[in-house]
Amino acid sequence: MRKILKCCVFIYFLSLCTLCWCYKILVLFPMVGKSHGILGKSCIDLLLDAGHQVTYLAWSPGFISHQNLTVIDISFPGVMENRFDIKRTMDREVDLGNMNEFLMTMSGIQRRIVEQEQVQKLLSDPEQNFDLVILEWLAGEYITGIAAVFGCPYIWLSSFEPDFLMMTLIGEYTGLAYVPTPVFSSLQRMWSMKRHISAYLFREFYIQQIEEIEYQRVFAPLIAKRHKVIPSYSELRYNASLILGNSHNSVGKVIQLPQAYKAIGGYHIIKKNIQPLPKDLKNLMDRSTNGVIYFSMGTFLPGKSFPDEIKQRILKVFAGLKQTVLWKFETDLPNRPSNVHIISWSPQQSILDHPNCVLFISHGGQLSSLEALHFGVPLIGIPVFADQHMNVKTLVNKGVAKEVHLSYDMAEDLKAAIEEVLGNASYAEAVKHYSYVYHHRTAPPGAELVHWVEHVVQTRGALHLRAVYRMMPWYQKCYLDVASVAIAVVIFLILATKWLFRKLKTFFVNQISDLKKKQ
Ligand SMILES: *[C@@H]1O[C@H](CO)[C@@H](O)[C@H](O)[C@H]1NC(C)=O
Repeated sequence: MRKILKCCVFIYFLSLCTLCWCYKILVLFPMVGKSHGILGKSCIDLLLDAGHQVTYLAWSPGFISHQNLTVIDISFPGVMENRFDIKRTMDREVDLGNMNEFLMTMSGIQRRIVEQEQVQKLLSDPEQNFDLVILEWLAGEYITGIAAVFGCPYIWLSSFEPDFLMMTLIGEYTGLAYVPTPVFSSLQRMWSMKRHISAYLFREFYIQQIEEIEYQRVFAPLIAKRHKVIPSYSELRYNASLILGNSHNSVGKVIQLPQAYKAIGGYHIIKKNIQPLPKDLKNLMDRSTNGVIYFSMGTFLPGKSFPDEIKQRILKVFAGLKQTVLWKFETDLPNRPSNVHIISWSPQQSILDHPNCVLFISHGGQLSSLEALHFGVPLIGIPVFADQHMNVKTLVNKGVAKEVHLSYDMAEDLKAAIEEVLGNASYAEAVKHYSYVYHHRTAPPGAELVHWVEHVVQTRGALHLRAVYRMMPWYQKCYLDVASVAIAVVIFLILATKWLFRKLKTFFVNQISDLKKKQ
């Protein structure tokens, strides 16, 4: 009998233990777009596999169901429509590099998401509680109000290499002089500095004011309803426990990073999620013993927005190749040579994973770059906007990629680049090396993500990782307090010496005149 009792007690404690390890986590990826969706979905996949309960606020819900998952649709129409268009970017009809406009748009999207009825319902439901909030960072911090409502820590998840605006949220960003901000990479230093400064000022002194008012109007009553202290918006914005960055040394540049930044680049590549290739695609790739070139400009830029004349000239270049070309495109193309195959939906990771895949022609987005390194495929980068320019430059410097500029006569350049990358063994060697660097980590990036998420909950916000300089006033960070004391001491010494000399001088002059008088 006692044995059974002991056993029961043991099982009870065991179940308590497992209960403790299951956390309630809210995940929000405010940026619209398929690549951001992939990052969001992979994040919740990993969390669900680790046994946590997840509420996912998503742009494109309805793709998974899981007993521990609640999905809330946050989509609304008309966001960034017609913005991403290759032809209009080339003809400079749209400026995808206008930072202030982008910051304003992102802030607007975040405010709109929070005001959605379903989201308001979640936030005002007193039964709802979370241990942690995970937010994608993309040029806006308004959604941190959600963490204040639930009174829990929050983590940023970022889709690209460390960005200046983002890094200032957890510490100092020292890379400014040698790394342009990925969100709007401009490679000219002068131009890049102007953008950094104007974006920073615009965010801190304009958008922040609007958001502060909205925060008081929308979030403050929700926080008060839960009898919690309403933190000031400016404090809240700077209160992230961590940044989980989709970056890694194998793809990016090495810069100084705060302890609260954890690089988990490539976490979205989850082995069990890599689907086998559809049968006909697999057969085609198996048969292509001369190699397969995979060409995709990502999910933001529809292939149809490529000017027609360029497409035709590119097809001519492809016709002269002995390799098979898989072009990810929405519709079939006229005059398509027989070695070119159009695929409207592409299982990108499975294609790159195929041993016959020898080259990836890409826009150089972060996910594609990481996937190329994961599967060890050299690249040709045709950057269009955002971090793509910077990513491609870095990959070119590493010797794993060749850059082709987007222009009306890019077909010729593309031809030369294909010959170079396939003809020169150095590209394959470099990609093999960096692929090794990519894989050779203490833990796979997905395991790191789960580890740090649990770490933040268990340590109630990982305050021990916060950089001391976050708590310091700016003049102390610049050593201005010490410098001013030093300057004051020097001035004092100069004045004191001067005063002393004057005193001594009058003393001696008096002495001499006294002596003269006595004579
Ligand atoms: C900042 O985060 C910590 C840890 O989650 C929390 O204890 C604190 O209340 C937060 N402060 C503000 C101002 O939100």
